[in-house]
Amino acid sequence: MKVNRLILSFAVAICGSTAFADVPVYLDDSKPLEERVEDALSRMTLKQKIAIRHAQSKFSSPGVPALGIPELWTDDGPMGVRPEVKWDEWDQAGWSNDSCTAFPSLTCLAASWDPELAVLYGTSLGEEARFREKDVMLGPGVNIYRTPLCGRNFEYFGEDPYLAGVMTGQYVKGVQSNGVAVCVKHYAANNNEWNRYTTNSIVSDRALYEIYLPAFKAAVDAGAWSLMGGYNLVNGQHATYNQRLVNEILKGEWGFDGVVISDWGAVHDTKQAVEGGLDMEFGTGTDGLTSKGNPYDNYWLANPYYNGVLEGKFSEEQLNDKVRRVLRLTMRTAMNRNKPYGSLNSEAHHQACRRIGQEGIVLLKNDDNILPISKDKVRSIAVIGENGIKRMTVGGGSSSLKALYEIFPLEGLQARYGDTINIVYERGYVGDTLTYYNHVWTKQHLDDPRSPEQLKADALKAARNADLVLFFSGLNKADHNDAEGTDRQTLDLPYGQNELIEAVAAVNPNTVVVNISGTGVAMPWLGKVKAVLQAWYLGNETGNAIASVLAGDVNPSGKLPYTYYASLDQCAAHKLGEYPGTPRHDPVEGDIIDMKYNDDIFVGYRYIDKEKIKPTFPFGYGLSYTTFGYGKATIDRKKGTADDIFTVTVPVTNTGDCAGSEVVQLYISDLKSSLPRPVKELKGFAKVRLEPGQTENVTFEIGRDALSFFDDKAHAWVVEPGRFEAIIGASSADIRSTVSFEIE
Ligand code: BGC
Repeated sequence: MKVNRLILSFAVAICGSTAFADVPVYLDDSKPLEERVEDALSRMTLKQKIAIRHAQSKFSSPGVPALGIPELWTDDGPMGVRPEVKWDEWDQAGWSNDSCTAFPSLTCLAASWDPELAVLYGTSLGEEARFREKDVMLGPGVNIYRTPLCGRNFEYFGEDPYLAGVMTGQYVKGVQSNGVAVCVKHYAANNNEWNRYTTNSIVSDRALYEIYLPAFKAAVDAGAWSLMGGYNLVNGQHATYNQRLVNEILKGEWGFDGVVISDWGAVHDTKQAVEGGLDMEFGTGTDGLTSKGNPYDNYWLANPYYNGVLEGKFSEEQLNDKVRRVLRLTMRTAMNRNKPYGSLNSEAHHQACRRIGQEGIVLLKNDDNILPISKDKVRSIAVIGENGIKRMTVGGGSSSLKALYEIFPLEGLQARYGDTINIVYERGYVGDTLTYYNHVWTKQHLDDPRSPEQLKADALKAARNADLVLFFSGLNKADHNDAEGTDRQTLDLPYGQNELIEAVAAVNPNTVVVNISGTGVAMPWLGKVKAVLQAWYLGNETGNAIASVLAGDVNPSGKLPYTYYASLDQCAAHKLGEYPGTPRHDPVEGDIIDMKYNDDIFVGYRYIDKEKIKPTFPFGYGLSYTTFGYGKATIDRKKGTADDIFTVTVPVTNTGDCAGSEVVQLYISDLKSSLPRPVKELKGFAKVRLEPGQTENVTFEIGRDALSFFDDKAHAWVVEPGRFEAIIGASSADIRSTVSFEIE
């Protein structure tokens, strides 16, 4: 239903952009944006101002048909363009032209530590969105990985605000270069799925500013055109219309001029939503279009808002601000005549998918250099585990996709090795056999008539007879296994995988585990297997990307974007915080669950460092098939003021015998401060590709941002005089060189 676009093109066809003197200013794209917005606003009736700001279907809003202002079409997000659903239902519309490229999970993108890949990712996704005529992509998800149990970690960029911020900014620029808006989500402190509608995140200002908000701020700084409020409450008020978060910080301090969109069904009250800065309402229930009239008119921000304005309860000026934002968004996207046409399922997108997957895979262990697979030593491989053959582009909730194709790990290996290596497959266990997730069919039937004992016996037999075992372990986007709306219930792998891996490793010492998940899992068998790869959900090209790393066609260079905990009590959210929270009845909000963020700013490695804990793998960790040597870091000045730029340089050499990339990390440590600070914090990183024997000087600039902390009493970012250290690491736990300097 692109009626309004036709009206717009018609107006343009008749008028041209400037050919006729009487082209209305709002349709004349040679005029400044704000002038056009004001002109459109001045022509709108109160009813139109109300209507333009709420849904007319599951994913669209109506625009202003009478003025030729087009509809806005949103869609999930964030890893591919979701298939079309029916007008008012979540069911598939049954279109046959809505298969997409499924890109790797955002955790994988974060694990690449490559901002250029974030641009490539965003640009490619934006092109697909454009081709599918979408104006707003509901993503990226930028919530911080606070607990490994959070069901949506795979949609986010990991535990560190700096890494998440850098990757977010580039992703935003990429998507929006297509005239498609991002809708960065879920603002804010939305760090678990369990009780997601009622969790009240009780979090200090300092933790908000230092940990939970920077990635959103980075999106705003990169020019994000819209943002989605979370379902949760923050400090007692719903996040989607939270005075402090939306009005004071986002629109006030950061000067955000875009649209705040509710998460689907996150609005519960007209007055609070109007006054709390919400601009557009989506996803509130209708009764399936069976009621009289347009049920969308019953939205909290529809008729109740209209009547409220007429009755003088809400000012029209306040409404105008919301309308201006929606007009701005529409002019930047649907009414942007200079945007490209986009493309869907191009070879370039499939290659981008593969490249991002290859660059994000993390090699966690590689005893005896068992990887890459040596064709001289390995004549037969037993591939074991359901994840070797399971469709993972479907599932997980709203990010579920209808991918044009998906290469499973087993298929990728078969394609890579052809007849040169004998590959046998055994599943080993039956985990999840659902064929339908979030209204998308997997078109895969995974029932197996064998008993669990037989499955295991068959897997062990295959393992015994092979030169090498590749065990594809992990989660699978079914409920409680990396899925929206549910958290995991344990850090352990499901379906008895731990026991099976141990049994397999006992019969074949050459066992390699390839773990597919979007979050950390316990690895009690780690000491018994030779190698481990963390392989994420990689989209269409999953099998090819994994096979190319296993075979050594690609040298792994990903590093972990979060701490890999050995047990939940290593994670501050569980050790110190309240998870899953304490139920309470609130007189205004009803039954809610208070969740105190007692871990405060000590999230991830910030807590690990403070308590000197040894996790399974630290933040920033990842191996390569080559090795890297670091020289001594130098700094260009030993003293200066907080406004000076300090330059740190460190030579990095590829000391092995194959080309590879290293992620060099800069952490800053404030040796003495009036408020407690983390031992060190990531403030820079660079991914360098080096040929064997090649050395490159890697340079980082340190400015005020890298030195400051948020003083919540003063409500200011502060740099205190004293000694600081610039710490160069190959991970957060593998420090290679340190230089100190002083702020006067
Ligand atoms: C999710 C959002 C998503 C929206 C629309 C909500 O349930 O939390 O991330 O964009 O649905 O599908």
